Amino acid sequence: MTILVTGATSAVGYFIAKELREKYPKTEIKALTRSDKKAPELEELGISFVKGDLTDKPSLEKALNGIDDVYNAAGEARDYIPSRIYYEVNVDGTRNILDAFIKNNGSRFLHVSTVGIYGYKVKNHPIKEDYPKKSDHPYHESKWVAEQLVFEYAKEHGFFASTVRPPYIVGPRDRQVAPKIFDYLLNDKKIPLVGKGKATISFVHHEDVARALVMCGEAEKANGEAFHVIGSSCTAKELFELAGEISGKKPIFSEISFPLAISVAVISEAIAKMKGSKPKISRRRINQFSRTRVYDFTKIKDFVGFKPQYDVKQAFQDAFNWMKEQKLV
Ligand SMILES: NC(=O)c1ccc[n+]([C@@H]2O[C@H](COP(=O)([O-])OP(=O)(O)OC[C@H]3O[C@@H](n4cnc5c(N)ncnc54)[C@H](OP(=O)(O)O)[C@@H]3O)[C@@H](O)[C@H]2O)c1
Repeated sequence: MTILVTGATSAVGYFIAKELREKYPKTEIKALTRSDKKAPELEELGISFVKGDLTDKPSLEKALNGIDDVYNAAGEARDYIPSRIYYEVNVDGTRNILDAFIKNNGSRFLHVSTVGIYGYKVKNHPIKEDYPKKSDHPYHESKWVAEQLVFEYAKEHGFFASTVRPPYIVGPRDRQVAPKIFDYLLNDKKIPLVGKGKATISFVHHEDVARALVMCGEAEKANGEAFHVIGSSCTAKELFELAGEISGKKPIFSEISFPLAISVAVISEAIAKMKGSKPKISRRRINQFSRTRVYDFTKIKDFVGFKPQYDVKQAFQDAFNWMKEQKLV
């Protein structure tokens, strides 16, 4: 059997590749890469590389030759990029890799989605997987379309498919969430605390996401199913306080109301657009840190026996330790 992992140059995909290597020491595992840049940490795991880009269909048809199972963690999640890029990579890219997968008679397709597909304004917590989807950002919408494509293709072509929907993913190799939080603390920046920081936010460790997806790949019951994979939750204020304990810096809070925060973000985004730079504060970030979003994660336990091993504190501690090792702080 041969497995292909996409997105392995980043955090989630790397831990999926590592988990697969540990579980299946004799299986050939390949990582899809866009560039010739070396990835020694993958080489150390005995993972080989195959060139390919989600937006380049012929490259995928070649890369998937001889592949049985795909773990698709590649995606475009960056902030402040043109909306069309989310659709090109997350929607068209997923369709391209699914086309290549069926052309090469693949067996199992495991995919990383997101809880963002429910939108920011959710009620009736904890939210279950069948909660209505309401995408309020092009990234979220692209991820929801991509997830549906996975299941539509699986149904039509009769292959095994399963997806996990994580919230913020934090841990070693994190270049998205933790570095931004620690940047506020380590540089004594004022932290805009919207609504007194009472919103409850959910997190998960990269290793838990990886373990959950690999467990889904092994459980027949997971076929055709999507699962929340959550570590633990805390309020926005608690999050900065615990990151403060980890980094040895006391957070400097600046309380701000939601309407004012949104107005500041609109102005900041407009200025950034004119200058061609990134806004200091965006509506996406304000919404993310000021709206309670708590997700039920009993389904993955019931279906595949998965339980998280890390809570939010450990996830941020691991992220900080890794940043120190990499001399990023
Ligand atoms: N981070 C989070 O908090 C979070 C939360 C929920 C869901 N997710 C999902 O988890 C997955 C991984 O997220 P991440 O935060 O680890 O992402 P990331 O750090 O932005 O890394 C993205 C990965 O995808 C690869 N990639 C991007 N565009 C590609 C393309 N056109 N062709 C092939 N590979 C491409 C990148 O490869 P290069 O090295 O070549 O750039 C990189 O390995 C994504 O599907 C994301 O939507 C993330």
